Amino acid sequence: MSRQFFVGGNFKMNPCSQAEKIALVKILNEADLDPSTEVILAPPSLYLIPLLETVKKGIKVSAQNCFNKNSGAYTGEISPTQLANAGIPFVILGHSERRTLFHETSELVAEKTRAALDASLSVILCVGETLQERESGQTTAVVESQLKAVVDLLKENDWSKVVIAYEPVWAIGTGKVATPAQAQETQAEIRSYLSKAVSPSVAANTRIIYGGSVNAKNCRELATLPDVDGFLVGGASLKPEFVDIVNSRR
Ligand code: G3H
Repeated sequence: MSRQFFVGGNFKMNPCSQAEKIALVKILNEADLDPSTEVILAPPSLYLIPLLETVKKGIKVSAQNCFNKNSGAYTGEISPTQLANAGIPFVILGHSERRTLFHETSELVAEKTRAALDASLSVILCVGETLQERESGQTTAVVESQLKAVVDLLKENDWSKVVIAYEPVWAIGTGKVATPAQAQETQAEIRSYLSKAVSPSVAANTRIIYGGSVNAKNCRELATLPDVDGFLVGGASLKPEFVDIVNSRR
C-alpha cells in the first residue's frame, strides 16, 4: 500500500492577529495545492474553529496539543473529546517544545495519544533527539524510547491513525535542516523499529514525516527519500512558500 504524502503546518503560537490569519488562509485557499498531498494546518487553539470554517475543502485542521483526560478540573487544558466534537480531526502530540518547555514525559505523551485515539482523533506523534544526544550516538535509542512508550499503549490497528513526525530538536527553528542522509537514516530506523515492535504491516503503512527547518528550497530533495512521507513545517508554514512545500512532489 502506498503512503499518501502528508504536509502539516504547525503555526505554533502564531499568528498574533486575526488579519494575519486571514491573509494566510487566503493564500492557501487560492493556491493550486497538489490533491495527492494530505494537508493539515495546526493553528493556536483560539483559531481552530474559525480556521475550520474558512479553510477550503481538502485542508484539514489540527490541534497542537490536548490533554489525556476527557473532562474535569484541568484548568487551561483541552480534551480530545472536545476537539472531536468540534470537528477537529487531528492533534499534534509530543512536540519537542511540549517535551522540553512543558516537561511532558514520553509516558504522558503516550497517555495523550491513547486518549486522542479513543476520542477518534488522528495523531501526529513527534519524536526526536537533541544535538547532544545525536553527537553522543544516542539518536536511535532516544527515538525508540519515545516510541516505545506509545507502542506499549496502542493496539496494532490504532497505528492507522498515527503519523510519526521525526523532528530532530537541533533542526527546529534553527535553519539547520537535517541532511537528506540523516533524515533518511533515522526515518528508516524508525520504520525498522515499528516492524519489530508492532508489525511489518504497520511499519510499511505508517507515514513517517520529517520536521525541522523545512523550506521551499530544501523540501524537494527531502521529498524524494524513500522513508520521508512528508513534512511537519513550523516557520515556513506561516509564509507563502508553504504552498511549494505541499507541492514538493509535483
Ligand atoms: O512542528 C514543526 C517543527 O517544530 C519545525 O519547525 O519548521 O520552524 O523548524 P520549523
